Amino acid sequence: MTDPRHPSLICVPGEIRSARLLLRPLQEADAEQVLEALQESREHLAPWLSWPPKVQDLDDARDLCIRWAAKWSLRTDLGIGIFSTADGRFLGATGLHDPNWDLRAFEIGYWLRTSAVGAGYVSEAVQLQTVVAFEVLDARRVEIRCDPHNLHSRRVPERLGIPLEGHLRNAWLDPLGNVRDTLVFAATPQDYPRLRDAWQVTSVWVRPPVEGGLRTAGLGHFQVAFAR
Ligand SMILES: CC(C)(COP(=O)(O)OP(=O)(O)OC[C@H]1O[C@@H](n2cnc3c(N)ncnc32)[C@H](O)[C@@H]1OP(=O)(O)O)[C@@H](O)C(=O)NCCC(=O)NCCS
Repeated sequence: MTDPRHPSLICVPGEIRSARLLLRPLQEADAEQVLEALQESREHLAPWLSWPPKVQDLDDARDLCIRWAAKWSLRTDLGIGIFSTADGRFLGATGLHDPNWDLRAFEIGYWLRTSAVGAGYVSEAVQLQTVVAFEVLDARRVEIRCDPHNLHSRRVPERLGIPLEGHLRNAWLDPLGNVRDTLVFAATPQDYPRLRDAWQVTSVWVRPPVEGGLRTAGLGHFQVAFAR
């Protein structure tokens, strides 16, 4: 990957798919589903994310989707939705956040709607994005940060075998204003072959872009298959 002068010109996949998940940028048309997902999930998101209370009605959700899409287009944040391939249902969101394009380092964040928890969707979404980060975006570092008390969140990198690098003390304020620690998990190109084997990734291939879809910036749509 060359380093263009303008991040907006960096090629990133317009879609990443596995057999059961579709990861793609949000669009304004997703607003209704996003709002519905947030409405059902207020209680379970409240301890960990500060922004959901700001999304109360359809216009808030439209604005959120438009902002996420704009940041994705500018490559200042690759936030994307997690959708079911079976029925198109919006399951939650994730992303290669806070990209450092010079270093090529990313932080993966995630949340699921309450009714989508416990099915392995986020672990799979992390795998898909990590594959694309190392195999397509030439990442040097993919990081996951979480509060040590957020057991569901920390179990994601632990389950996937992403190394724990550090425990930062007093590193963030939770949504209630409590001072909390942060765990830092990260994978580098040195770790990636081991992770790819452990995850049983069998193939990564480019599918032709869908006619009339979002701007795909040249790299098309990626499909990842696992031996499971
Ligand atoms: C963090 C969060 C996304 C984790 O959700 P999750 O459903 O536990 O994570 P996954 O989607 O990876 O699913 C893993 C669970 O599904 C189960 N599972 C079921 N089918 C599975 C499959 N086919 N593959 C993998 N796991 C599967 C796993 O056993 C695991 O359950 P367990 O933790 O009880 O053992 C969710 O709790 C959440 O949205 N929290 C609020 C927001 C938040 O904290 N975000 C992170 C901020 S740092």
